[in-house]
Amino acid sequence: MEKQEKVILTGDRPTGRLHIGHYVGSLRRRVELQNSGEYDKIFIMIADAQALTDNFEHPEKVRQNILEVALDYLSVGLDPAKSTLFVQSQVPELTELTFYYMNLVTVARVQRNPTVKSEIQMRNFEASIPVGFFCYPISQASDITAFRATVVPVGEDQEPMLEQCREIVHKFNSVYGETLTMPEIMLPSNKAAMRLPGTDGKAKMSKSLGNCIYLADDPQTVKQKVMNMYTDPLHLKVSDPGHIEGNTVFTYLDAFCRPEHFERFWTEYKNLDEVKEHYQRGGLGDVKVKKFLLNVLEEELSPIRERRHYYEKHLDEVYDILKKGSEVARARAAETLEDVRHAMRIDYFANDDMLKETEARYSE
Ligand code: TRP
Repeated sequence: MEKQEKVILTGDRPTGRLHIGHYVGSLRRRVELQNSGEYDKIFIMIADAQALTDNFEHPEKVRQNILEVALDYLSVGLDPAKSTLFVQSQVPELTELTFYYMNLVTVARVQRNPTVKSEIQMRNFEASIPVGFFCYPISQASDITAFRATVVPVGEDQEPMLEQCREIVHKFNSVYGETLTMPEIMLPSNKAAMRLPGTDGKAKMSKSLGNCIYLADDPQTVKQKVMNMYTDPLHLKVSDPGHIEGNTVFTYLDAFCRPEHFERFWTEYKNLDEVKEHYQRGGLGDVKVKKFLLNVLEEELSPIRERRHYYEKHLDEVYDILKKGSEVARARAAETLEDVRHAMRIDYFANDDMLKETEARYSE
């Protein structure tokens, strides 16, 4: 048997600029996977059609964020020579596939999807759920399978989506014959990468709470946000013992800090554990820890910012990358759709089999 291609598909909804929570939770990993050279193909999708399922009244918001998200992708180091960056709505095969998959899923099954459940609550959709929104897990299965993805790197919150996708693949293949590729989820590799809290200590970074550090923030803004960051409200005097749990500065350090940062920025300590010990014992002030965090963050953010500056001045390149990427993506999805139509026996005009079969019936 021929060796299976290793293919990645993942993406984001374009509803705002990406922040360092996205970076830690997914973008950083994508760049590593891209540069590992282990994958035959990588598709990174700007999920505008999915964003419209709960923003249909605000197409401008989605439109405005297409190139913004692409800028963020390129600035973190996603490389169009290695990864195909594309826009979901420009691949109409995905909607066709969704329509066929709808036959394979029950309403009750979508209702049980925990992600859908909590999103319905969040959006106060309980009384009346738009059908488009309700079906987005099915559409997400189309995204994944149209590209014959073998690996889908996503956050924990997407686990139920992948599970539902796998069920659809299983169902399709058992009804119509082996056609679709079964995808595997790839979760973030460590706890720190799971979810970065907001700078105010709230569980999640969110634009509406104003507690995000954006990849596009300038050094002044990042400094201000770090210096105002939530720490330990009981740590009033430097000499007070401090708490690490729920202390945003330490959560960020867990996510970003590496041993070599100490040689460069803080030779008094060898590693983060030593800093934590001192902080808990008392005698280590927040400002010192924050300054260190700022150095660590800036080391990661400044190359990202530089690449962003370049692309901000070459937006036409960004535009072309997405346009070409969308063409490449479409060609790939079209191949899958051919297989799907064939498996479903609706490839009427691909050859004259249907004509022959009908003629045979009439000549009996
Ligand atoms: N649902 C994902 C999110 O909210 C975005 C997305 C759409 C996606 N289609 C996908 C992720 C396919 C992985 C695979 O961020």
